[in-house]
Amino acid sequence: MTITKGTTVTETAPTTGGVAISGLTLGFGRGEARKEILRGIDLVIPAGEITGLAGESGSGKTMTGLAVCGLLPAGADLGGSIRFDGTELIGLSQRRMNRYRGAKIAMIFQDPTASLHPMLTIEAQLIDHYRYHRGASKRAARTRALEMLGLVAVPDPRAALRKYPHQFSGGQLQRIAIASALMCEPSVLIADEPTTALDVTVQAGILRLLRRLCDELGIAIVLVTHDLGVMSALADTIAVMRMGEIVEHGDRHQVITAPQHPYTKSLIDALPETDTGSLLHDASGSETAA
Ligand SMILES: Nc1ncnc2c1ncn2[C@@H]1O[C@H](COP(=O)(O)OP(=O)(O)OP(=O)(O)O)[C@@H](O)[C@H]1O
Ligand SMILES: [Mg+2]
Repeated sequence: MTITKGTTVTETAPTTGGVAISGLTLGFGRGEARKEILRGIDLVIPAGEITGLAGESGSGKTMTGLAVCGLLPAGADLGGSIRFDGTELIGLSQRRMNRYRGAKIAMIFQDPTASLHPMLTIEAQLIDHYRYHRGASKRAARTRALEMLGLVAVPDPRAALRKYPHQFSGGQLQRIAIASALMCEPSVLIADEPTTALDVTVQAGILRLLRRLCDELGIAIVLVTHDLGVMSALADTIAVMRMGEIVEHGDRHQVITAPQHPYTKSLIDALPETDTGSLLHDASGSETAA
């Protein structure tokens, strides 16, 4: 299935536990100073799948993720529709959006320190976050935190809870950021360049972890990355963005081997020969290498 621009996929694809974006527009400013960032995006992000989001710098990948999480900067003028499990998110009050943000829909970033407070122990931030959303007891929250740290393969979760972010390596910190994102059982996880700041062996571990979380927990994952090689090894479908539009979206195999849009073709042609050879093979390396 290749969905090119202009084809609506929202009517056919399942959206239970996932997100259906249609006609999403985003702009900043007014009149002459108006800047259009997203120009009518249609994208279905199904549960239990990794949806890869590729495209040049400035094409709007991060803004799309932030829009889904309700985390856009002030002054953002958003139009169209973002439906999560049958609920329209655009236009929700801050109070209602807070029920989804960080709970049902979570986001992790390139720099894990962006998701974690430097002055708080891991325990404080994982637990406070959970208690805020769930109203759980401290004890129940701590149990959940230990469980999530174990799930993302952080060694010695009990000791980890007592530490501060600076006491971990980048790879371990990204695992902790993922654990934090998982605390409230999100249905949707947006991972914006989650491995770009990490070295190659650590990257493979984090990517395998994302695949496992998607498969085992049925989470809808959006994986934003510049690396088409990574995308083709890990994503189920690949959406290609350019200048605020999705120019192509389809099964990863089809997008890589038979791209429909000239821009996608140029991205694939620009890959080094060795990378093209490794496309469509699973990311190698141990999940716990970090
Ligand atoms: N606060 C803001 N106000 C206005 N425009 C912004 C703001 N933040 C980003 N932009 C613009 O939005 C556009 C899309 O940016 P976005 O960060 O989504 O791109 P991206 O595809 O994630 O790029 P990259 O691959 O470099 O991360 C860019 O033109 C950027 O300059
Ligand atoms: Mg970005």
